[in-house]
Formats: sequence, C-alpha cells, structure tokens
Amino acid sequence: MKHSREFHLILHGATGFTGRLAAEELHRNAPKGLRWAVSGRTSEKVNALAQKYEVPGIVTESLKDSDVESLASRADVILSCAGPYSVFGTPLVQACVKYETHYADLSGELPWIHQIIQQHHEICVQKKITLIPSSGFDSVPSDLAVHSMRQALSRPCKLYGLFRIKGGLNGGTLHSGLALAEKQTLSAPAPPSPFAIPYLKRWAAPFLMAPVNEDVVARSQSDFPYQEFLLVRTRGQASRMSGLLRLSTRMLASPFGRKLLRLFGPKPGQGPSKKKIEEGFADLTLLAGSLEQPLAVHRWNWTGDPSNLITVRCLVQTGLALAAGEAKAGGVLTPSGALGSALTQRLLKIGAVQHQTLPSHHDRPQV
Ligand SMILES: NC(=O)c1ccc[n+]([C@@H]2O[C@H](COP(=O)([O-])OP(=O)(O)OC[C@H]3O[C@@H](n4cnc5c(N)ncnc54)[C@H](OP(=O)(O)O)[C@@H]3O)[C@@H](O)[C@H]2O)c1
Repeated sequence: MKHSREFHLILHGATGFTGRLAAEELHRNAPKGLRWAVSGRTSEKVNALAQKYEVPGIVTESLKDSDVESLASRADVILSCAGPYSVFGTPLVQACVKYETHYADLSGELPWIHQIIQQHHEICVQKKITLIPSSGFDSVPSDLAVHSMRQALSRPCKLYGLFRIKGGLNGGTLHSGLALAEKQTLSAPAPPSPFAIPYLKRWAAPFLMAPVNEDVVARSQSDFPYQEFLLVRTRGQASRMSGLLRLSTRMLASPFGRKLLRLFGPKPGQGPSKKKIEEGFADLTLLAGSLEQPLAVHRWNWTGDPSNLITVRCLVQTGLALAAGEAKAGGVLTPSGALGSALTQRLLKIGAVQHQTLPSHHDRPQV
C-alpha cells in the first residue's frame, strides 16, 4: 500500500462504551507524531471526545455509503467499535476494501465474519489490505496463545485453552448477541458436559466465547486442534456454569427470552464501573497434548475486565501495529495470521499480559 494519508488512524464508534475506553487507551499509547481522529454518528458526543483528547472529530453514519467512504479514504487504518457489526459493519468494511485501508474491529459475530471473509479475502490478499475482525478479547488472547505454543512444540498435537475470568457485561455486547440470535434459524449445539483436568486438579465447564475463539484459532492454523473451556475449582461449579450457559442460550433463542434480556439487561452505551473494569482479569492456561500429562503448559495472565480493558488494549495495539506497517500479509485475517508475534510483543511491552511457562509432565520428578 502507498499511504500515508491525512490520518494514520481513525477510531470509529469512538463514542460507545468500548469506543471511549479505546480513545483513552489510544491517547495514552499513541506514538509521538501519530495523526489520529475519532469518529461517530452523534455530533455532540464526537465533539466532546475530540475536545477531550485534542484530536479531530468526524461525524459519520455507519450506514451511509458517502460517510464511510470519506472516512476510509482519509486514513491508513480504521478501528471500528460501532457494533452490532452484522447491523452496522458492512458498509465500512466495503469502503475500506475500496480505498485500500487497513481495518480492525471487535466483532465476535461469526456469520458476519464468514460473510466478510467470503466477499473480501481474495481481493484483500491481492491488494495487500489487512482486515482483522475479532481484535478484542475474542479472539486475540486465544489466537496469540496458540500461535506462541505452536512455536514451542516440535510436532502437532491437541491444545486445550482454559480460561479463568472476572468481568462484566456491556450493553453493546448483549445487543450484538441479540442481533445475532434474531438472525439465526438453527438452534445452537448443546454445550459440552463438565470434565476433570487432572494436571491442574480443576474442572472444565463450557465457555460462552469458545465457539468464536475456536473458529478464529482454526482459521489461523489447522494442525493443532484447539478447544476452549472455563476453568473452575469443583465439579459443582462446573455443573452450575453449564446450566447457566444452557439457560442463556435458551433465552437468546426464544423471542420472549430476548425481550426479557432487552428489558432487564444493560443497554447499548452501558458497561461495568471503572472499579469493576480495573478489578477484572482473564487467565488463560494452555495445555498441549493431554489433560493428565501435558507436553507443555503456558499461562497468560491478562489484567483488567475482558470485555473492556483487555479488549481495547488488544484493539489499540492491533491498530498501532497496522499503522506501523507490521502486517505480514493482506487478506481478511486473524490477529496472529496478520501480525503474529509482533502483536504479542506489543501487548507484553505495555503490560497488558504476562506470560509464564509452567512445568510440564516432562519436568516433574517421577515418583
Ligand atoms: N470482542 C470483544 O471481546 C468485545 C468486547 C466488547 C465489545 N465488543 C463489541 O463491540 C461493539 C461495541 O460495544 P460497546 O459496548 O462499545 O457498544 P455501545 O456502547 O453500544 O457502542 C456502540 C457504538 O456504535 C455506534 N453506532 C451505533 N449505530 C451506529 C451507526 N448507525 N453509525 C455510526 N455509529 C453507530 C454508537 O454510537 P452512539 O454513541 O452515537 O450511540 C456507539 O459509538 C459491540 O458489537 C460489541 O459486541 C466486543
């Protein structure tokens, strides 16, 4: 790509809950000389944000072609926090392809992502335009952890990702889930039953984000089959988590359940308190080969609420890496497929995550 344009980077949907946090994160981490701007549909909110960070503000309606085309033509990179993406996302992606602008977003809406891949991957490969959906908590931590584990192993084997998380729910995330559920005609598969993890003396329960993360990881690589679960202390906790997931899946699948979630759940623009965001975390333990005697064990400790702090750190570092020309290839790519270890190094450097290698069964004394 030729570039650089008026802006190195535009943050779109900057006025939403994650958008505002992403603007703050960008303000804190933007390298000297980075020309960036905020964009959104509501002029008062955009202007207030632009004033706060002393950057240009652009009023853009995601569904209006002329607006999003102007946005895409003015920047090297667009980061979009304007979701649900299956509702608002397509015109901006089309505009980025047309104007050869790199792009990343926070979508976990698989059918929409598959549609974008089908429509734009080939042309993006040819023109070396990098589009990275799922650049938030889903699915950067899983994708980068598997990328790193693969490099440490000499031959392919099965990988298990086990998450411990503490965090809140954003209205935007709930409404993206509701938008997706409304379009889906097939019922979701039943979640897997809990099972023991002897190596960690813990239990595995089904994890809400596993289908998205597993899909992204499978697209990055196919030789290390990857499955993801929640890690809990007891069998009873695992059964309760299973029940909760089944209940939320049923609620999303039924019009009455969706009505209740709209009525009583958080609204778009809402999210957890600052304190809750700071107290949140996500620990991902990766076991290679076996749950009893793993060949290798990696742990990634992420700080902050997964849907918010972890998400915006992943998105902002993705945007900065794209703006710095660190993309390895063009295409509609996964985080590791596009940026590989460069993104991991960036996230380690800002202290978003810490990485440890734990003793595998090879390292344990035989008794
Ligand atoms: N991958 C992850 O781990 C992760 C984590 C968190 C969030 N997310 C996703 O990120 C998205 C945003 O979440 P959120 O909590 O920030 O939601 P939110 O607070 O509801 O924000 C949505 C943003 O989209 C903007 N928007 C809506 N319709 C628009 C339109 N027609 N044109 C332009 N802008 C429009 C809103 O503008 P106004 O401010 O003017 O209303 C707002 O800026 C959701 O899809 C959510 O699922 C993903």
